[in-house]
Amino acid sequence: MSEQIAIYAYVLAAVLFVFALKAMASPKTARRGNLIGAVGMLIAIGVTLLAQRPEMIRDIVHGNWIPTGLTVPAITSTGWVFVIIGIVAGSLIGAFLALTVKMTGMPQMVAMFNGFGGLASGLVVFAVVFRRSAADMATEAGQTLAVTVGVSTLIGWVTFTGSVIAFAKLQGVVFSGKPVTFPLQKIANFLVLLACVGAIVVWGFAPEMRWIIIPLALLASAFGVMFVIPIGGADMPVVISLLNSYSGLAACATGFVLNNPGLIIAGSLVGASGIVLTRLMCHAMNRSLANVLFAAVGSKVADIDTERQKSVKRYTGQDGAMILANADSVIFVPGYGLAVAQAQHILKELADLLESRGTTVKYGIHPVAGRMPGHMNVLLAEADVPYEQLCDLETINPEFENTDAVVTIGANDVINPAARSDRDSPIYGMPILDVDKARTVMIIKRSLSPGFAGIDNDLFYNAKTLMLFGDGKAMLTDLVAAMKEA
Ligand code: TAP
Repeated sequence: MSEQIAIYAYVLAAVLFVFALKAMASPKTARRGNLIGAVGMLIAIGVTLLAQRPEMIRDIVHGNWIPTGLTVPAITSTGWVFVIIGIVAGSLIGAFLALTVKMTGMPQMVAMFNGFGGLASGLVVFAVVFRRSAADMATEAGQTLAVTVGVSTLIGWVTFTGSVIAFAKLQGVVFSGKPVTFPLQKIANFLVLLACVGAIVVWGFAPEMRWIIIPLALLASAFGVMFVIPIGGADMPVVISLLNSYSGLAACATGFVLNNPGLIIAGSLVGASGIVLTRLMCHAMNRSLANVLFAAVGSKVADIDTERQKSVKRYTGQDGAMILANADSVIFVPGYGLAVAQAQHILKELADLLESRGTTVKYGIHPVAGRMPGHMNVLLAEADVPYEQLCDLETINPEFENTDAVVTIGANDVINPAARSDRDSPIYGMPILDVDKARTVMIIKRSLSPGFAGIDNDLFYNAKTLMLFGDGKAMLTDLVAAMKEA
């Protein structure tokens, strides 16, 4: 393939990535965006494989700053076998996961995808370094390479191990929802990070010491674990978007190592959009990034007041249906439990039933409801809920006080008034959906158990709150049946 065509193809892929991101900004066009992004990636991968002499592209884009001795050789026939095995295995695993992973497992899958991005970057640059002899590295170009590989190794391994811990926390395998702290943690974290940066600097001055990449990868892996374990459950959205951004930055750094324009562009787009998402998540929680990353270190998780003997109003589906039948306006507030119960379709059926009786129906969507950004939007889109009915926090909050009934399904932390009133609460300051301002609040969940942040919720004991205990899908099915009879 001529290098000119390769460059044009990379530009086309880059343009498709930008359009994909734009389309993914709205639930209406997100599916199309996903497809456009996939086509862009297919083009980028195809070009990289077909333009077997990447040094040509490198020369055009950056000038010939790496001597020929350090260029990446063309793919050999054995190399092609590995490439084909990789494509087939990767496609099969991807297709299998896409078909089998449940909606509730998506956040964990996203966390692992971030992690694999980091791992791929870490491994690729490892191979790049050890393909060269120490003598090859001991040049000015080798010096530049050592620093770029060092940066890629640092970000790649931090992303990988950080994402593994995020995955484990989301899956509830370890430290579910709880920050893990130990004495002098901030100092220990700082020292490990400093050691990583120190290793990169030393390597830059002595590029022939290729072995530095091994302790650097180990230190970076340790830092990835240490940076995620102190983060509390409620703050996980920020960490996940940050790791998403890191996976892009790692790919971008690897793009510089390989001098691959496609990887540089795709990596920077993921890195930049991840940072924007992180900002949005911080905004959603009303926290600064520094506060999220460092505040939990040394702080205590609020204890659940298990001794408290407050009473709750326990209602059945029949009771709930009577209230809904008389309501002129209803707002549904979905939370993580909606995803667990897979109750989106029956929720839509209930909404349709209410609308057919003249009730105004809306959905209040909290930006961190569920376990991944946009979780509730994806879930409700699956059930064909009209996008116009999905209202974000700022839009819906002023409406609660004029609403007859709010029905929350598997929501907990995002409706916890402690965020407004309890200064000691880990979620204090996070904007919540002010459901307690509605005339009646119906809460559908299985028990009084806390949400991901692990804290009690006083809303359950509020005078206007009616608890409808049960699985989300089963309770909504009861409500629909009772409504049909009403
Ligand atoms: P949570 O506060 O986690 O509460 C979910 C509730 O759903 C639980 O209290 C649980 O109570 C209930 N539930 C579980 N299975 C259910 C079922 N089958 N039927 C009915 N209810 C069920 O959820 P939320 O309000 O959506 O808040 C999200 C939390 O996750 C926040 O703390 C957020 O910071 C965190 N987080 C979010 C993200 C992103 S990016 N969105 C990522 C990581 C963490 P029962 O067991 O009593 O039923």
